[in-house]
Amino acid sequence: MTDRREDENVIALLERQHVEIRTLFEVVESATGDKRRDAFHDLVRLLAVHETAEEEVVHPEVRNVDGGDAVVDARVGEEHRAKRLLSTLHDLGPDAEGFDILLTELKADVLAHAEHEEREEFPLLRKLHDEDRLRSMAGAVRAAEMIAPTRPHPGVESATANLLLGPPLAIMDRARDAIRSVLKR
Ligand SMILES: [Fe+2]
Ligand SMILES: [Fe+2]
Repeated sequence: MTDRREDENVIALLERQHVEIRTLFEVVESATGDKRRDAFHDLVRLLAVHETAEEEVVHPEVRNVDGGDAVVDARVGEEHRAKRLLSTLHDLGPDAEGFDILLTELKADVLAHAEHEEREEFPLLRKLHDEDRLRSMAGAVRAAEMIAPTRPHPGVESATANLLLGPPLAIMDRARDAIRSVLKR
């Protein structure tokens, strides 16, 4: 689903992922059976990669801006809450009782969080760096995407892919390693 666009800057890439996240929530809510399970696993993957990328690539930069710390602290709090909820949902699985209620809660949290980022945080990043720098920062996010790509052919080998990827926290650890190796931290 996420196609690679080499000239895309980090803000455009993260905002495109926000749209993709919203769409996946809608598919999980409306689909049934395998389609629902596959969409949920895509959502787990994308959210794990996306939030890790923001924590590693965007937040540290925005902390350098005047007033940036407060903005980042608020976003990190929202991300921690979303991660806990995501792990709970992953452990429950989409067929469990109570899943739908928690999914609705996670969707509301995540979409509000994304809106806060777009309105309060990304503009600070845009002020801080020029277009070239913003483009090169996208490379670290793409490196994270590549450890957990969404499947090119939905429905094919999904069970195997999901087993290999493991729970959200494991995906986040691997995404963090991939990003740090690009950033040479
Ligand atoms: Fe985020
Ligand atoms: Fe985000």
